[in-house]
Amino acid sequence: MPKVTIHTLREKKAKGEPITYLTAYDYPTAILEQKAGIDVILVGDSAGMVVYGYSSTLPVTMDLMIPLVRAVRLGAPDVYLVGDMPYMSYQPSISDAIRNGGRFMAEGCDAVKLEGGREMAATIRAMVDATIPVMAHIGLTPQAAAQLGGFKAQGRDLETAQRLIEDAKILEEAGASSVLLEAVPAEVAKIITRRAGVPTFGIGAGVHCDGQVLVIHDMIGMFDKKVAKFVKKYAEVGDKIVEALTEFKKEVLAREFPAKEHCYPMPPDVAAELERLYPE
Ligand code: KIV
Repeated sequence: MPKVTIHTLREKKAKGEPITYLTAYDYPTAILEQKAGIDVILVGDSAGMVVYGYSSTLPVTMDLMIPLVRAVRLGAPDVYLVGDMPYMSYQPSISDAIRNGGRFMAEGCDAVKLEGGREMAATIRAMVDATIPVMAHIGLTPQAAAQLGGFKAQGRDLETAQRLIEDAKILEEAGASSVLLEAVPAEVAKIITRRAGVPTFGIGAGVHCDGQVLVIHDMIGMFDKKVAKFVKKYAEVGDKIVEALTEFKKEVLAREFPAKEHCYPMPPDVAAELERLYPE
């Protein structure tokens, strides 16, 4: 497929053609996602949970993210690649945001994503001025879970819904090239999408967004922890892997694996000479 760029995403929005978006954290998964024709890949800070085993995204650092981004870009050279700015890689100062965003861009990202509403407008403006395209992330912003009082849907009353609608516009005006909406009612996402001049992506935000995003481990059943209400499981790959591992163990214990076809043959005369030299 031709390289997906911001123009591809804008064209899809203009034509009303939904955009597909998944996370990936490694080379083999990136290959499979590109093969499936997925348009956008996020190397998400959800790596904290699904790759590194932490209970939140907060311990994730730039140094943990960079090797993942490098591997995903090698596996999927043609997708629109987004690097997710980890906790405290952009909040302390605009210069931190530019320096860390620049590290993602130098690894071949097409954009970076950061969490937050209007309070991030100045940071986004400065990053865009420094040639770093930014995907804004509003609604449920997991890095602020403590402040939000947990992992709860956002914008469910008139006041907070209006604040989200305004935030999306403010961030677009600050230069965000797309907006991701997490865990917000479909009605709110529909209004934001209709008013936005840039593509919107929803995760738990209903069907009206320009694109849909899911965490790959959640949607293929590779993560054994509780998943959010908005996740649809398209496969149970984890069960399939356990099945294969159990079968491997059974065959090894029974000395059924490796079979003849998995072994390297040796000329019979050499084998006989070895037997003679090293008798049992
Ligand atoms: O890190 C992540 O996986 C995310 C999701 C919203 C896609 O930010």
